[in-house]
Amino acid sequence: MTALTLSTAAASGLRADAIVVGVAKGAKGPVVAPGAESVDKAYDGKLASVLETLGASGAEGEATKLPAPSGFKAPVILAVGLGAVPEKDQAYDAEVLRRAAGVAARTLAGSKKAAFALPLESAADAGAIGEGALLGAYAFDAYKGTADAKAKKGAKDTKGPLAEAALLGGKPRDKAYKAAVERALAVAEELNRARDLINTPPNDLYPEAFAAVAQAAGKEHGIKVQVLDEKALAKGGYGGILGVGAGSAAPPRLVKLSYTSSKAKKHLALVGKGITYDSGGISLKPAGHNETMKCDMSGAAAVFAAVVAVARLGLEVNVTGWLALAENMPSGSATRPGDVLRMYSGKTVEVLNTDAEGRLVLADALTKASEDQPDAIVDVATLTGAMVLALGDRTFGVMANDDAFRTSIHEIAEEVGEPSWPMPMPEHLRKGMDSPTADIANMGERMGGGLVAGLFLKEFVGEGITWAHLDIAGPAFHEGAPYGYTPKGGTGSAVRTLVRLAERTAAGDLG
Ligand code: BES
Ligand code: MN
Ligand code: ZN
Repeated sequence: MTALTLSTAAASGLRADAIVVGVAKGAKGPVVAPGAESVDKAYDGKLASVLETLGASGAEGEATKLPAPSGFKAPVILAVGLGAVPEKDQAYDAEVLRRAAGVAARTLAGSKKAAFALPLESAADAGAIGEGALLGAYAFDAYKGTADAKAKKGAKDTKGPLAEAALLGGKPRDKAYKAAVERALAVAEELNRARDLINTPPNDLYPEAFAAVAQAAGKEHGIKVQVLDEKALAKGGYGGILGVGAGSAAPPRLVKLSYTSSKAKKHLALVGKGITYDSGGISLKPAGHNETMKCDMSGAAAVFAAVVAVARLGLEVNVTGWLALAENMPSGSATRPGDVLRMYSGKTVEVLNTDAEGRLVLADALTKASEDQPDAIVDVATLTGAMVLALGDRTFGVMANDDAFRTSIHEIAEEVGEPSWPMPMPEHLRKGMDSPTADIANMGERMGGGLVAGLFLKEFVGEGITWAHLDIAGPAFHEGAPYGYTPKGGTGSAVRTLVRLAERTAAGDLG
């Protein structure tokens, strides 16, 4: 794990592998960003023109390495692009700083220490740079190389993440700066843990294994963890979770994580879809659609990470996390298209397509979560391919039974750097799920499939409870080249939105 420190040292005297500076895109070429004045001076004020000679423009995503000026203890200067120079009197956007720090940390993988001399004017900037660095430094190499090579650490084909990020210009004695660093560490470390869970292959991460990870984390962070195994689920009548897990040799689990604060005035419930592998079941997915379906527990991973981060931060709000864990597999014992399940709520569902399994496990968890009468419920799920078609692979959809709450979530997501968009729940789509046999079918019209799924979930939320649904099927798992602080593979989508939501709820900003 990457260490994060605040430093008042001068760039020249710092023992580090590299000094990171910002370069913005000016009207007449690259411009050295604030924070790097002393570095620029050591190049006789010519850093911008040197960078231009090397082909740098200051565009976002750019990373240019050059030898440090003489007299510097660090051998390398790494200039990262910040995009357009902000308008007069405007600071750099937090997300710009986060991404630039992420690019730097990624570029410096394998290094011991990097000093960040990026524009840093406030504790919030320190938090953003810290968060970006820690998220960008992420590497998933648990399955790379032989055990032998790994024992020798880095001897084989992995570099390992940047070990330490020092933020220059930070105020190590200032309360707000210290809090910002603590927050960045808690959020980024737990988010990275969510990424690990998502990236762990499904032969190792099955429902019982995930539940065990939750139990261990609960012990460590003072979170109460209760696990319902398949026997308890049968006794409790959780037909949705059991129906989805019926085809797998690895039985399902429902995990409840309870974080409580003695000063809490509000209670937030978070529900995560935790399909540790989605083969589609008897409605089997074709090749080409199942290779990345280990990511189908990303919602549960996000909920888990958020609850642990909230506990680490000691927020004054009660947060309950629900992880609906099952593996969706075809077998002789699997649920068939045509089967009717009796859900935990008592409603019956005709399963027309076993690949629409997420809504079935979530339905039971939503009903159960409603029993505590929380002030709000938010579920997070890689729910529909339709949402990916609608919003692409970087934006999650937000639906809710309350317009103000949907708007709040969208704004909170924006604030933390997670693209999202509000989606409607048109009532007329409900009748497409009418079933001749049961109370509802698990599938409706194909058009607007993401909205249909939202309408299905809504039926399982307790009367009068404010609820929102985040469909993260697009952004949960990144298959392209890394960018900013986003790696290939599990991204940890929604974790930062959930943590900020908990903070805002604790502060009494919502409802
Ligand atoms: N887990 C998938 C949705 C998904 C698709 C997640 C792509 C990530 C990337 C979900 O369980 C699913 O299969 N949904 C079906 C529903 C349909 C059968 C009604 C879909 O979207 O095709
Ligand atoms: Mn599916
Ligand atoms: Zn699924």
